[in-house]
Amino acid sequence: MKNYKWLAAISIMMTAIIIYSCKTKFNTAKAGYKATSTPRAFERGKVLVYSICAGCHYNRSVNKFIGNKIDDVPEIIGSVYSANLTRSKSHGIPPHYSDAELRYLLKTGVARDGRFIPYMLRPNMAEEDLNDIIVYLRSDDPAVAAADTTVGITHYNMIGKTFMNTTAKPLPYIKGVKRPSENNPVALGAYLVDNIGCFHCHSKSLIAINYLHPDQTKGYMAGGMKLKGENGVSIVASNITPDKNTGIGNYTQAQFLKAIKDGEAPDRKLHPPMPKFQKLSDNEVDAIYAYILSIPPQDNAVKK
Ligand code: HEC
Ligand code: HEC
Repeated sequence: MKNYKWLAAISIMMTAIIIYSCKTKFNTAKAGYKATSTPRAFERGKVLVYSICAGCHYNRSVNKFIGNKIDDVPEIIGSVYSANLTRSKSHGIPPHYSDAELRYLLKTGVARDGRFIPYMLRPNMAEEDLNDIIVYLRSDDPAVAAADTTVGITHYNMIGKTFMNTTAKPLPYIKGVKRPSENNPVALGAYLVDNIGCFHCHSKSLIAINYLHPDQTKGYMAGGMKLKGENGVSIVASNITPDKNTGIGNYTQAQFLKAIKDGEAPDRKLHPPMPKFQKLSDNEVDAIYAYILSIPPQDNAVKK
């Protein structure tokens, strides 16, 4: 009996070693690229960074992008902190990245040093939006002004490393993506749901996210994922498909706008981690609404 236990232990270790030794360094950006700064790029970049990156990188205790502890990563894989995105030379990350490397990180998930980081993988992001995000991160805005501080250092244990290398992989850089026009609200809405990452929280599970084809994600937009809310309280993300009984099929356009920008649903105040997307324009939120009405309703009752 004892021998069998040893055998089992050894085979588990061997498997872990084999998986762990999978490729962990990837090719990084080569092409030279310089973002083009204009006042309009700055304004749009600010909207994008507040809508896409803030949920993880904006620290509300100081109102700056100095990073946070990411509570929704299970303790069993280690502890994860998002990076300081300010212009601090000592603690900020962007000052040590070239524009090409930043763009490459967002599109492929590959960091400057060749590590794979899945959290901000945005393979379908448009070139102009990448440009504007970089312009904002390099700007004089107070929220990205140098803050020489760190909230913590990410540490993955062996389980974590194995897990990170098996659940998702870097994606090839998809060139030439354009942002859909406001004259095509359904396409623009789909683009925003993808790039803001609404579906990351509102689908089945964080490890089942399909970054390349969002609508192929398991339980796409049908909710049910348990997340950590204020003070670590667990909170379930809503079904936001247009199902009339269990989703948001009864929302009017005006109610949707209020929920997304002010965090007020028709029946209740919404709680974190549901963000308040205050910087999105009404047109952008209306586009998301138009897109949501176009996807198939899913009957999935979620506890509020
Ligand atoms: C879902 C959470 C999440 C979102 C959204 C997010 N990030 Fe991150 N980001 C992280 C985490 C976590 C790390 C640190 C990962 C690590 O240390 O392994 C990180 C690290 C980084 C780094 C440092 C990479 C390095 O070499 O260490 C940069 C730069 C960055 N993020 C930029 C962005 C930008 C720009 C956006 C918005 C377009 C964004 N992130 C959105 C979670 C997120
Ligand atoms: C970080 C995770 C997260 C992200 C990102 C996120 N949500 Fe949510 N959302 C939640 C959670 C959790 C709730 C439930 C809040 C509550 O019940 O108080 C919620 C609730 C909602 C509701 C209320 C539905 C109801 O129950 O009546 C709507 C609408 C909604 N989200 C839409 C969106 C849209 C659109 C986006 C992207 C623009 C988005 N969410 C991004 C986590 C998230």
